[in-house]
Amino acid sequence: METIIQTTNLTKFYGKNRGISDVNITVRKGDIFGFLGPNGAGKSTTIRTLLDFIRPTGGSATIFGLDCQKESLAIRRRVGYIPAEANLYGHMTGWKYLEYLGGIRGRYDPESAHKYAERFGIRLDRRMREYSSGMRQKVIIIQALMSDPDLVIMDEPTKGLDPLVQQTFMDVIREEAARGKTIFMSSHVLSEVEKVCNRVAIIRNGLIVAEEDMESLKRKSGKVIEVKFRGAKPEPFIVAGAGNVAKLDGYYKMTATGDIRSVLRDLAAFDVEDVNIHPMTLDDIFMQYYAAGGK
Ligand SMILES: Nc1ncnc2c1ncn2[C@@H]1O[C@H](COP(=O)(O)OP(=O)(O)OP(=O)(O)O)[C@@H](O)[C@H]1O
Ligand SMILES: [Mg+2]
Repeated sequence: METIIQTTNLTKFYGKNRGISDVNITVRKGDIFGFLGPNGAGKSTTIRTLLDFIRPTGGSATIFGLDCQKESLAIRRRVGYIPAEANLYGHMTGWKYLEYLGGIRGRYDPESAHKYAERFGIRLDRRMREYSSGMRQKVIIIQALMSDPDLVIMDEPTKGLDPLVQQTFMDVIREEAARGKTIFMSSHVLSEVEKVCNRVAIIRNGLIVAEEDMESLKRKSGKVIEVKFRGAKPEPFIVAGAGNVAKLDGYYKMTATGDIRSVLRDLAAFDVEDVNIHPMTLDDIFMQYYAAGGK
């Protein structure tokens, strides 16, 4: 599969402060790639370096095989971008704003802008400063998609969108990917990433701690087991391959990655009133990666 984004030991220090260090990720054509991490992890730093808004202090990156620093203009012509914080021209109407940005990029298709506006249910004849934050975010999403980019890089694109619009957004993203477009998005909304992304990377304190296909990440991550005892919790309470026992609503909750037969065998030795076993969700996995706390 064709490689769209490739970073090689990409590093950015802000003075002595680590933004990101030795980031290696590969995004392939047609991927919906989720970039996850807590506040201050380095998501925006990575994205801004890819688009040459800031310069790396080490390593390199390519998009479409072009160098992100030396050939950034050629890259930007083919990339749609949703920044974490957009520079808004409050006095312009939505239309004017799109026209203005389209003029700069030279690949503006009013027809397409109109189509997305309809899809997201937003009128474009109002001034940017009069929109609610969710409405503004819709306009920003439209500007990223309207010029039919080969790659869309989005820094927390669903910020401020209500659940219904988030759903529309995910539908649109899936359709774009099905047409061979590539999507790279940072997010805090784990359920959304879990639903829509086929591949994810998790960044923490500027370091990539996981990069995997969504399916294999889930498969490898084991089961969540919730046990309720008839009496008090037996001591010692040890279940094969399980760690981190926490109490929640009368149930003892743990995650187990070992052989499920050993887990069942160990559980059978206790006076168990009820047990739930289910696969870890991305939420559970994410929490496991961050159990030690954010930065
Ligand atoms: N302009 C800057 N000057 C100094 N340090 C910065 C600057 N921008 C970011 N950093 C630092 O780099 C690290 C990564 O920040 P970054 O904005 O990339 O995180 P993020 O993952 O996008 O977080 P969030 O989820 O809050 O948007 C943080 O420690 C932050 O303090
Ligand atoms: Mg950010």
